[in-house]
Amino acid sequence: MNISPDTKVYGIIGYPLTHSLSPIMHNMAFKEKRINGVYLYFPCKYVEGVVAGMKSLSIRGLSVTIPHKEKICHYVDELDSLAKEIGAANTLINKEGFVIGYNTDAYGAISALKKKVNTIKGKNVLIIGAGGAARAIAFALKKEGAKLTISNRTIEKGLKLADNVDSKFCPLSHISENGYDIIVQTTSVGMYPDTDKSPVSKNIFKKGMIVMDIIYNPVETNFLKTAKKCGCITISGIEMFIYQGAKQFELWTGKDAPIDLMKKTVLNIIGR
Ligand code: ATR
Repeated sequence: MNISPDTKVYGIIGYPLTHSLSPIMHNMAFKEKRINGVYLYFPCKYVEGVVAGMKSLSIRGLSVTIPHKEKICHYVDELDSLAKEIGAANTLINKEGFVIGYNTDAYGAISALKKKVNTIKGKNVLIIGAGGAARAIAFALKKEGAKLTISNRTIEKGLKLADNVDSKFCPLSHISENGYDIIVQTTSVGMYPDTDKSPVSKNIFKKGMIVMDIIYNPVETNFLKTAKKCGCITISGIEMFIYQGAKQFELWTGKDAPIDLMKKTVLNIIGR
């Protein structure tokens, strides 16, 4: 691409940033849609100056990742209502000096699930984990009318999220097959390089269940492999990753995201 004074600058903040596939995915999307934009890595330990820096350097948009999704909410000029409810933002837009925070993780998870589930309303959903990602997914599923159960290793944290979304709680050490229609795995257990790990045993799976992992490296985690062997319908974390990125692209550019190309780009890097 040709860098010019009009080139719009986007990027990702987080620390450390070595794992992120967002830059290659977004730069490919800009190229495909002929957008004069560039998406860069901004390793960032301290989040305090980010919004002021965006304004002074005319950075048009940022993705926000671990560990800044919650803290950044204190610095934006406005928070979208869903981001406010969740208490975390993963997307910033600089609209002529006014910076708004959004959460597209929730949209990403729901879009990924809806590829395999016609309706989420009334479904019994078990969410494993109670961190930032689990929080976004729990609020989004609640809005869709799911009946939720939260399960977490640390009981106080799990109980807090369960209370916030008005759902049941079950300690991770106690979970078993309990009539769940859908299971969403949100912990980091099983992520590269610890790919032989899983947060639960195969006893929780039942034929026909929809099982999603939000880990996208590896594309098929040990958790998903086991679920598939038990006859479950599985959804890789790659789907959520692509959809959350596609929504960011649309918020920033106002154009439809080239979803298939974004997915192909990411799959080419991490392998199938
Ligand atoms: P994120 O923002 O990606 O969700 P996080 O906020 O650090 O990350 O949350 C990580 C989640 O993974 C938590 O639910 C955490 O459980 P605890 O609350 O008990 O810490 C879960 N997790 C991480 N390592 C785990 C492990 N070895 N076994 C079980 N759960 C684990």
